[in-house]
Amino acid sequence: MAVDLLLGLQWGDEGKGKIVDVLTSKYNIIARFQGGPNAGHTLVFNGKKHVLHTIPSGIFHENAINLVGNGVVIDPVIFKKELEKLDEQSVNYKDKLFISRKAHIILPTHRLLDAASEASKGKAKIGSTLKGIGPTYMDKTGRNGLRIGDLELEDWEEKYRALADKHEAMIGFYDVDIQYNLAELETEFFKALKTLKSLKFIDSEEYIFQAQKEGKSILAEGAQGSLLDIDFGTYPFVTSSNTTAAGACTGLGVAPNKIGDVLGIFKAYTTRVGSGPFPTELFDEDGATMSRVGNEFGATTGRARRCGWLDLVALKYACQINGVTKLMMMKADVLSGFKTLKVCTAYNYKGQTIDHLPFNIEPENVSPIYTEMKGWNEDLTGMNSSSQLPKALNDYIDFLEKELELSITIVSVGPDREQTIFR
Ligand code: GDP
Ligand code: IMO
Ligand code: MG
Repeated sequence: MAVDLLLGLQWGDEGKGKIVDVLTSKYNIIARFQGGPNAGHTLVFNGKKHVLHTIPSGIFHENAINLVGNGVVIDPVIFKKELEKLDEQSVNYKDKLFISRKAHIILPTHRLLDAASEASKGKAKIGSTLKGIGPTYMDKTGRNGLRIGDLELEDWEEKYRALADKHEAMIGFYDVDIQYNLAELETEFFKALKTLKSLKFIDSEEYIFQAQKEGKSILAEGAQGSLLDIDFGTYPFVTSSNTTAAGACTGLGVAPNKIGDVLGIFKAYTTRVGSGPFPTELFDEDGATMSRVGNEFGATTGRARRCGWLDLVALKYACQINGVTKLMMMKADVLSGFKTLKVCTAYNYKGQTIDHLPFNIEPENVSPIYTEMKGWNEDLTGMNSSSQLPKALNDYIDFLEKELELSITIVSVGPDREQTIFR
Protein backbone atom coordinates (compact mmCIF):
# COMPACT_ATOMS: atom_id res chain seq x y z
CA MET A 1 0.00 0.00 0.00
CA ALA A 2 1.14 3.54 -0.69
CA VAL A 3 2.47 5.64 2.18
CA ASP A 4 0.51 8.82 2.92
CA LEU A 5 2.35 11.91 4.15
CA LEU A 6 1.24 14.64 6.50
CA LEU A 7 3.32 17.81 6.31
CA GLY A 8 3.27 21.36 7.62
CA LEU A 9 3.06 23.94 4.82
CA GLN A 10 4.12 27.04 6.74
CA TRP A 11 6.82 27.71 9.39
CA GLY A 12 5.81 24.80 11.65
CA ASP A 13 3.24 24.49 14.46
CA GLU A 14 0.36 24.15 12.00
CA GLY A 15 -1.30 21.47 14.14
CA LYS A 16 0.36 18.34 12.74
CA GLY A 17 0.23 16.50 16.07
CA LYS A 18 -3.51 17.03 16.44
CA ILE A 19 -4.34 15.79 12.93
CA VAL A 20 -2.01 12.78 13.03
CA ASP A 21 -3.77 11.76 16.24
CA VAL A 22 -7.18 12.29 14.61
CA LEU A 23 -6.20 10.20 11.57
CA THR A 24 -4.31 7.42 13.37
CA SER A 25 -7.36 5.16 13.62
CA LYS A 26 -7.19 4.83 9.81
CA TYR A 27 -3.55 3.67 9.78
CA ASN A 28 -1.51 0.68 11.01
CA ILE A 29 1.78 2.54 11.28
CA ILE A 30 2.69 6.17 12.07
CA ALA A 31 6.28 7.05 11.15
CA ARG A 32 8.24 10.25 11.89
CA PHE A 33 10.72 10.93 9.10
CA GLN A 34 12.84 13.96 10.00
CA GLY A 35 13.64 16.60 12.59
CA GLY A 36 14.09 15.88 16.24
CA PRO A 37 13.15 17.40 19.59
CA ASN A 38 13.05 20.87 18.02
CA ALA A 39 9.47 19.76 17.21
CA GLY A 40 6.61 20.11 19.67
CA HIS A 41 3.43 18.36 18.59
CA THR A 42 0.37 18.99 20.75
CA LEU A 43 -2.54 16.59 21.15
CA VAL A 44 -5.65 17.30 23.21
CA PHE A 45 -8.25 14.70 24.14
CA ASN A 46 -10.39 13.84 27.17
CA GLY A 47 -9.63 17.28 28.58
CA LYS A 48 -5.88 16.64 28.69
CA LYS A 49 -3.02 18.15 26.69
CA HIS A 50 0.01 16.08 25.61
CA VAL A 51 3.14 17.40 23.90
CA LEU A 52 5.37 15.06 21.90
CA HIS A 53 8.83 15.97 20.59
CA THR A 54 10.31 12.86 18.99
CA ILE A 55 7.71 10.16 19.53
CA PRO A 56 5.15 9.95 16.70
CA SER A 57 1.69 11.35 17.38
CA GLY A 58 -0.05 7.98 16.99
CA ILE A 59 1.29 6.70 20.31
CA PHE A 60 -1.96 7.16 22.25
CA HIS A 61 -3.83 4.72 20.01
CA GLU A 62 -3.74 1.17 21.23
CA ASN A 63 -3.15 -0.61 17.96
CA ALA A 64 -0.91 1.66 15.92
CA ILE A 65 2.80 0.96 15.51
CA ASN A 66 4.87 4.13 15.98
CA LEU A 67 8.17 4.29 14.21
CA VAL A 68 10.99 6.82 14.55
CA GLY A 69 12.63 6.78 11.13
CA ASN A 70 16.26 7.02 10.02
CA GLY A 71 15.85 10.69 9.06
CA VAL A 72 15.11 11.69 12.66
CA VAL A 73 17.76 12.88 15.13
CA ILE A 74 17.22 11.62 18.68
CA ASP A 75 18.24 13.16 21.97
CA PRO A 76 18.14 10.25 24.43
CA VAL A 77 17.63 12.60 27.39
CA ILE A 78 14.53 14.20 25.88
CA PHE A 79 13.29 10.84 24.59
CA LYS A 80 13.51 9.40 28.11
CA LYS A 81 11.46 12.32 29.46
CA GLU A 82 8.83 11.68 26.81
CA LEU A 83 8.67 8.02 27.80
CA GLU A 84 8.29 8.97 31.46
CA LYS A 85 5.32 11.16 30.57
CA LEU A 86 3.77 8.19 28.75
CA ASP A 87 4.43 6.00 31.81
CA GLU A 88 2.54 8.52 33.96
CA GLN A 89 -0.48 8.09 31.64
CA SER A 90 -0.06 4.30 31.65
CA VAL A 91 0.41 4.31 27.88
CA ASN A 92 1.85 0.98 26.80
CA TYR A 93 4.55 1.70 24.23
CA LYS A 94 6.93 -1.25 24.69
CA ASP A 95 5.47 -3.36 21.88
CA LYS A 96 4.56 -0.57 19.49
CA LEU A 97 7.34 2.01 19.53
CA PHE A 98 10.28 1.18 17.26
CA ILE A 99 13.43 3.14 16.45
CA SER A 100 15.46 2.98 13.26
CA ARG A 101 19.05 1.80 13.72
CA LYS A 102 20.05 4.46 11.20
CA ALA A 103 18.64 7.42 13.15
CA HIS A 104 21.39 9.74 14.38
CA ILE A 105 22.00 10.52 18.06
CA ILE A 106 22.17 14.05 19.49
CA LEU A 107 25.08 14.15 21.95
CA PRO A 108 25.25 16.63 24.84
CA THR A 109 28.10 18.34 22.99
CA HIS A 110 25.87 18.83 19.92
CA ARG A 111 23.62 20.93 22.12
CA LEU A 112 26.62 22.92 23.37
CA LEU A 113 27.81 23.48 19.80
CA ASP A 114 24.33 24.74 18.87
CA ALA A 115 24.48 27.23 21.75
CA ALA A 116 28.01 28.34 20.81
CA SER A 117 27.09 28.78 17.15
CA GLU A 118 24.00 30.83 17.97
CA ALA A 119 25.82 32.98 20.54
CA SER A 120 28.58 33.70 18.01
CA LYS A 121 26.04 34.93 15.45
CA GLY A 122 24.74 37.71 17.69
CA LYS A 123 21.87 39.56 15.99
CA ALA A 124 22.06 37.26 12.97
CA LYS A 125 21.15 34.20 15.04
CA ILE A 126 18.74 31.66 13.54
CA GLY A 127 16.59 31.54 16.66
CA SER A 128 17.29 27.81 16.97
CA THR A 129 15.50 25.79 19.61
CA LEU A 130 19.06 24.93 20.83
CA LYS A 131 18.32 21.22 20.83
CA GLY A 132 21.50 20.40 18.89
CA ILE A 133 19.70 19.80 15.60
CA GLY A 134 22.07 21.71 13.28
CA PRO A 135 25.31 20.22 14.68
CA THR A 136 23.87 16.68 14.63
CA TYR A 137 22.80 16.91 10.97
CA MET A 138 26.19 18.49 10.20
CA ASP A 139 27.90 15.43 11.68
CA LYS A 140 25.54 13.22 9.67
CA THR A 141 26.39 14.84 6.33
CA GLY A 142 30.03 15.23 7.40
CA ARG A 143 30.07 11.44 7.99
CA ASN A 144 31.08 11.74 11.61
CA GLY A 145 27.75 11.02 13.31
CA LEU A 146 26.78 8.29 15.73
CA ARG A 147 23.66 6.26 15.08
CA ILE A 148 21.26 4.22 17.17
CA GLY A 149 22.76 1.04 15.67
CA ASP A 150 26.16 2.07 17.07
CA LEU A 151 24.77 1.57 20.58
CA GLU A 152 24.71 -2.17 19.86
CA LEU A 153 28.41 -2.27 18.94
CA GLU A 154 31.29 -2.97 21.30
CA ASP A 155 33.29 0.12 20.48
CA TRP A 156 30.40 2.52 21.13
CA GLU A 157 32.03 4.20 24.14
CA GLU A 158 35.28 4.84 22.25
CA LYS A 159 33.37 6.28 19.32
CA TYR A 160 31.39 8.47 21.69
CA ARG A 161 34.51 9.76 23.49
CA ALA A 162 36.32 10.57 20.26
CA LEU A 163 33.41 12.60 18.91
CA ALA A 164 32.68 14.37 22.20
CA ASP A 165 36.37 15.34 22.55
CA LYS A 166 36.37 16.70 19.02
CA HIS A 167 33.25 18.72 19.81
CA GLU A 168 34.85 20.20 22.92
CA ALA A 169 37.79 21.36 20.83
CA MET A 170 35.34 22.89 18.34
CA ILE A 171 33.48 24.75 21.09
CA GLY A 172 36.83 26.33 21.93
CA PHE A 173 37.04 27.80 18.41
CA TYR A 174 33.93 29.92 18.99
CA ASP A 175 34.75 33.21 20.60
CA VAL A 176 31.89 32.95 23.11
CA ASP A 177 31.52 32.11 26.76
CA ILE A 178 29.54 28.89 27.11
CA GLN A 179 29.35 27.54 30.65
CA TYR A 180 28.86 23.80 31.01
CA ASN A 181 29.63 20.77 33.11
CA LEU A 182 30.11 17.93 30.65
CA ALA A 183 30.50 15.27 33.33
CA GLU A 184 27.01 16.08 34.63
CA LEU A 185 25.55 16.13 31.13
CA GLU A 186 27.17 12.79 30.37
CA THR A 187 25.80 11.11 33.50
CA GLU A 188 22.30 12.12 32.42
CA PHE A 189 23.02 11.07 28.82
CA PHE A 190 24.33 7.60 29.65
CA LYS A 191 21.43 6.98 32.01
CA ALA A 192 19.02 7.91 29.23
CA LEU A 193 20.78 5.60 26.80
CA LYS A 194 19.97 2.69 29.08
CA THR A 195 16.29 3.54 28.89
CA LEU A 196 16.49 3.95 25.12
CA LYS A 197 18.11 0.53 24.79
CA SER A 198 15.06 -1.07 26.40
CA LEU A 199 13.14 -0.19 23.22
CA LYS A 200 13.17 -2.14 19.99
CA PHE A 201 15.75 -1.00 17.40
CA ILE A 202 14.91 -2.08 13.86
CA ASP A 203 16.10 -1.89 10.26
CA SER A 204 13.21 0.43 9.55
CA GLU A 205 13.44 0.63 5.76
CA GLU A 206 13.08 -3.16 5.58
CA TYR A 207 10.26 -3.06 8.13
CA ILE A 208 8.38 -0.47 6.08
CA PHE A 209 9.00 -2.34 2.84
CA GLN A 210 7.54 -5.55 4.28
CA ALA A 211 4.64 -3.68 5.87
CA GLN A 212 3.76 -2.16 2.50
CA LYS A 213 3.91 -5.58 0.88
CA GLU A 214 1.53 -6.92 3.50
CA GLY A 215 -0.94 -4.15 2.69
CA LYS A 216 -0.45 -2.22 5.94
CA SER A 217 -1.42 1.44 5.85
CA ILE A 218 1.28 3.91 6.80
CA LEU A 219 1.13 7.62 7.60
CA ALA A 220 4.44 9.52 7.59
CA GLU A 221 4.44 12.41 10.07
CA GLY A 222 6.49 15.48 9.24
CA ALA A 223 8.01 17.95 11.65
CA GLN A 224 8.55 21.70 11.19
CA GLY A 225 7.11 23.13 7.98
CA SER A 226 7.97 23.61 4.31
CA LEU A 227 9.26 27.16 4.81
CA LEU A 228 11.82 25.79 7.28
CA ASP A 229 13.10 23.22 4.74
CA ILE A 230 16.90 23.26 4.37
CA ASP A 231 16.62 23.60 0.56
CA PHE A 232 13.33 25.37 -0.04
CA GLY A 233 12.77 27.36 3.14
CA THR A 234 13.83 30.89 4.01
CA TYR A 235 17.53 29.98 4.18
CA PRO A 236 19.54 30.44 6.39
CA PHE A 237 16.61 30.88 8.80
CA VAL A 238 15.55 27.26 8.45
CA THR A 239 16.08 23.94 10.18
CA SER A 240 18.69 21.42 9.04
CA SER A 241 16.52 18.75 7.39
CA ASN A 242 14.24 18.37 4.38
CA THR A 243 10.82 18.96 5.88
CA THR A 244 9.13 18.55 2.48
CA ALA A 245 7.73 15.41 0.82
CA ALA A 246 11.11 14.29 -0.53
CA GLY A 247 12.33 14.13 3.07
CA ALA A 248 9.86 11.32 3.73
CA CYS A 249 11.49 9.21 1.00
CA THR A 250 15.00 9.65 2.40
CA GLY A 251 13.87 9.75 6.04
CA LEU A 252 12.08 6.41 5.87
CA GLY A 253 13.42 4.66 2.79
CA VAL A 254 10.14 4.87 0.91
CA ALA A 255 10.46 5.03 -2.88
CA PRO A 256 8.86 8.09 -4.55
CA ASN A 257 6.45 5.91 -6.54
CA LYS A 258 5.14 4.44 -3.25
CA ILE A 259 3.85 7.76 -1.93
CA GLY A 260 0.06 8.09 -1.87
CA ASP A 261 -1.77 11.13 -0.54
CA VAL A 262 0.20 14.17 0.53
CA LEU A 263 -1.83 15.87 3.24
CA GLY A 264 -0.82 19.51 3.59
CA ILE A 265 -1.72 21.28 6.78
CA PHE A 266 -1.86 25.05 7.35
CA LYS A 267 -3.22 27.56 9.84
CA ALA A 268 -5.99 29.91 8.66
CA TYR A 269 -3.41 32.65 9.33
CA THR A 270 0.40 32.42 9.66
CA THR A 271 2.84 32.09 12.55
CA ARG A 272 6.59 31.86 12.85
CA VAL A 273 8.87 31.35 15.84
CA GLY A 274 12.54 32.30 15.69
CA SER A 275 14.27 34.71 13.30
CA GLY A 276 13.84 35.22 9.56
CA PRO A 277 11.65 37.03 7.05
CA PHE A 278 7.85 36.88 7.32
CA PRO A 279 6.18 39.13 4.73
CA THR A 280 2.65 39.13 6.22
CA GLU A 281 3.76 39.59 9.83
CA LEU A 282 1.56 41.94 11.88
CA PHE A 283 2.82 44.32 14.53
CA ASP A 284 -0.61 45.75 15.37
CA GLU A 285 -3.74 44.87 17.35
CA ASP A 286 -4.75 42.20 14.81
CA GLY A 287 -1.48 40.33 15.34
CA ALA A 288 -1.84 40.63 19.10
CA THR A 289 -5.38 39.22 18.86
CA MET A 290 -4.19 36.19 16.85
CA SER A 291 -1.44 35.60 19.39
CA ARG A 292 -3.81 35.86 22.37
CA VAL A 293 -6.79 33.94 20.98
CA GLY A 294 -4.58 31.35 19.28
CA ASN A 295 -2.39 31.04 22.39
CA GLU A 296 0.61 31.29 20.11
CA PHE A 297 3.50 30.17 22.27
CA GLY A 298 5.98 27.49 21.18
CA ALA A 299 5.28 23.96 22.44
CA THR A 300 9.04 23.26 22.78
CA THR A 301 10.57 26.55 23.92
CA GLY A 302 7.56 28.55 25.17
CA ARG A 303 8.67 31.49 22.99
CA ALA A 304 5.96 33.81 21.62
CA ARG A 305 5.16 33.02 17.99
CA ARG A 306 5.06 35.92 15.55
CA CYS A 307 1.62 36.19 13.87
CA GLY A 308 0.31 37.49 10.55
CA TRP A 309 -2.22 37.06 7.76
CA LEU A 310 -2.38 34.01 5.51
CA ASP A 311 0.25 34.14 2.75
CA LEU A 312 -1.03 32.39 -0.38
CA VAL A 313 2.15 33.06 -2.35
CA ALA A 314 4.11 31.01 0.19
CA LEU A 315 1.33 28.45 0.60
CA LYS A 316 1.07 27.83 -3.15
CA TYR A 317 4.82 27.33 -3.29
CA ALA A 318 4.62 24.76 -0.47
CA CYS A 319 1.77 22.90 -2.24
CA GLN A 320 3.88 22.73 -5.41
CA ILE A 321 7.11 21.55 -3.77
CA ASN A 322 5.27 18.85 -1.84
CA GLY A 323 2.76 17.73 -4.46
CA VAL A 324 -0.04 18.23 -1.95
CA THR A 325 -3.20 16.28 -2.80
CA LYS A 326 -5.45 17.42 0.08
CA LEU A 327 -5.43 20.42 2.38
CA MET A 328 -6.36 20.79 6.03
CA MET A 329 -7.04 24.18 7.56
CA MET A 330 -6.38 24.66 11.27
CA LYS A 331 -7.39 27.23 13.87
CA ALA A 332 -10.32 28.70 11.92
CA ASP A 333 -11.86 29.47 15.34
CA VAL A 334 -9.07 31.95 16.10
CA LEU A 335 -10.24 34.24 13.26
CA SER A 336 -13.78 34.63 14.69
CA GLY A 337 -14.47 38.26 15.53
CA PHE A 338 -12.30 39.93 12.87
CA LYS A 339 -14.44 42.35 10.85
CA THR A 340 -12.21 42.04 7.82
CA LEU A 341 -9.70 39.32 6.96
CA LYS A 342 -6.73 39.83 4.69
CA VAL A 343 -5.14 37.22 2.45
CA CYS A 344 -1.86 37.88 0.67
CA THR A 345 -2.30 36.89 -2.99
CA ALA A 346 0.81 38.49 -4.52
CA TYR A 347 4.01 40.30 -3.58
CA ASN A 348 5.27 43.66 -4.62
CA TYR A 349 8.85 42.60 -5.37
CA LYS A 350 11.27 45.42 -6.11
CA GLY A 351 8.41 47.41 -7.66
CA GLN A 352 6.88 44.52 -9.65
CA THR A 353 3.83 42.41 -8.84
CA ILE A 354 4.74 38.72 -8.65
CA ASP A 355 2.83 35.66 -7.44
CA HIS A 356 5.69 33.23 -6.90
CA LEU A 357 8.15 33.00 -4.01
CA PRO A 358 11.36 34.80 -5.03
CA PHE A 359 14.92 34.01 -3.84
CA ASN A 360 14.79 36.74 -1.26
CA ILE A 361 11.72 37.69 0.77
CA GLU A 362 13.42 40.13 3.13
CA PRO A 363 11.15 43.14 3.93
CA GLU A 364 13.34 45.53 1.93
CA ASN A 365 12.49 43.56 -1.25
CA VAL A 366 8.99 42.28 -0.64
CA SER A 367 5.71 43.76 0.53
CA PRO A 368 2.47 41.77 0.51
CA ILE A 369 -0.50 42.63 -1.71
CA TYR A 370 -3.76 41.74 0.03
CA THR A 371 -7.27 40.71 -0.95
CA GLU A 372 -9.77 41.65 1.75
CA MET A 373 -12.59 39.34 2.80
CA LYS A 374 -15.51 39.65 5.16
CA GLY A 375 -14.97 38.13 8.60
CA TRP A 376 -17.44 36.26 10.84
CA ASN A 377 -18.44 36.59 14.48
CA GLU A 378 -19.76 33.15 15.33
CA ASP A 379 -17.94 31.02 17.87
CA LEU A 380 -16.90 27.91 15.92
CA THR A 381 -15.54 25.86 18.78
CA GLY A 382 -18.76 23.91 19.41
CA MET A 383 -19.53 23.25 15.74
CA ASN A 384 -19.17 19.73 14.40
CA SER A 385 -20.44 19.76 10.84
CA SER A 386 -19.64 21.76 7.80
CA SER A 387 -23.29 22.84 7.42
CA GLN A 388 -23.00 24.84 10.67
CA LEU A 389 -20.08 26.96 9.48
CA PRO A 390 -20.90 30.65 8.86
CA LYS A 391 -21.22 31.83 5.25
CA ALA A 392 -18.24 34.18 5.50
CA LEU A 393 -16.03 31.25 6.56
CA ASN A 394 -17.33 29.12 3.69
CA ASP A 395 -16.51 32.02 1.35
CA TYR A 396 -12.98 32.17 2.84
CA ILE A 397 -12.57 28.41 2.27
CA ASP A 398 -13.97 28.59 -1.30
CA PHE A 399 -11.57 31.43 -2.10
CA LEU A 400 -8.55 29.47 -0.82
CA GLU A 401 -9.59 26.30 -2.65
CA LYS A 402 -9.88 28.23 -5.91
CA GLU A 403 -6.54 29.99 -5.47
CA LEU A 404 -4.70 26.82 -4.44
CA GLU A 405 -6.59 24.50 -6.82
CA LEU A 406 -6.96 21.92 -4.04
CA SER A 407 -9.75 20.79 -1.71
CA ILE A 408 -9.73 21.61 1.98
CA THR A 409 -10.84 18.32 3.52
CA ILE A 410 -10.59 19.19 7.22
CA VAL A 411 -11.42 22.42 9.04
CA SER A 412 -10.18 22.46 12.63
CA VAL A 413 -12.15 24.61 15.09
CA GLY A 414 -10.30 24.00 18.36
CA PRO A 415 -7.38 22.07 19.85
CA ASP A 416 -9.40 19.02 20.91
CA ARG A 417 -9.54 15.84 18.85
CA GLU A 418 -13.33 16.29 18.66
CA GLN A 419 -13.14 19.84 17.31
CA THR A 420 -12.48 18.60 13.79
CA ILE A 421 -14.85 19.06 10.86
CA PHE A 422 -14.49 16.74 7.86
CA ARG A 423 -15.67 18.10 4.50
P1 GDP B 1 2.47 21.06 15.44
O1 GDP B 1 3.89 21.33 15.79
O2 GDP B 1 2.21 21.23 13.98
O3 GDP B 1 1.99 19.72 15.93
O4 GDP B 1 1.60 22.16 16.18
P2 GDP B 1 1.80 22.67 17.71
O5 GDP B 1 1.26 21.63 18.61
O6 GDP B 1 3.18 23.13 17.94
O7 GDP B 1 0.91 23.97 17.69
C1 GDP B 1 -0.44 23.97 17.40
C2 GDP B 1 -1.17 24.58 18.60
O8 GDP B 1 -2.49 24.89 18.22
C3 GDP B 1 -1.31 23.60 19.76
O9 GDP B 1 -1.35 24.33 20.95
C4 GDP B 1 -2.65 22.93 19.49
O10 GDP B 1 -3.27 22.42 20.66
C5 GDP B 1 -3.43 24.10 18.94
N1 GDP B 1 -4.48 23.78 17.96
C6 GDP B 1 -4.46 22.84 16.99
N2 GDP B 1 -5.57 22.95 16.21
C7 GDP B 1 -6.28 24.00 16.70
C8 GDP B 1 -7.49 24.64 16.31
O11 GDP B 1 -8.15 24.28 15.34
N3 GDP B 1 -7.90 25.71 17.07
C9 GDP B 1 -7.20 26.15 18.14
N4 GDP B 1 -7.68 27.20 18.80
N5 GDP B 1 -6.06 25.57 18.53
C10 GDP B 1 -5.60 24.52 17.81
P1 IMO C 1 7.10 21.62 14.81
O1 IMO C 1 7.36 20.21 14.35
C1 IMO C 1 8.17 25.83 14.60
C2 IMO C 1 12.41 26.78 14.00
C3 IMO C 1 13.15 27.45 15.14
C4 IMO C 1 14.18 28.25 14.38
C5 IMO C 1 14.52 27.33 13.21
C6 IMO C 1 15.77 26.48 13.43
O2 IMO C 1 6.61 21.72 16.20
O3 IMO C 1 6.26 22.36 13.83
P2 IMO C 1 16.40 24.41 14.96
O4 IMO C 1 16.13 24.11 16.40
O5 IMO C 1 15.82 23.42 14.02
O6 IMO C 1 17.85 24.67 14.71
O7 IMO C 1 15.66 25.81 14.68
O8 IMO C 1 13.40 26.48 13.04
N1 IMO C 1 11.74 25.52 14.35
C7 IMO C 1 10.41 25.37 14.49
N2 IMO C 1 9.43 26.30 14.43
N3 IMO C 1 7.88 24.53 14.78
C8 IMO C 1 8.85 23.60 14.82
O9 IMO C 1 8.57 22.26 14.85
C9 IMO C 1 10.20 24.01 14.71
N4 IMO C 1 11.39 23.37 14.73
C10 IMO C 1 12.32 24.30 14.50
O10 IMO C 1 12.30 28.26 15.91
O11 IMO C 1 13.58 29.40 13.84
MG1 MG D 1 5.00 22.52 17.14
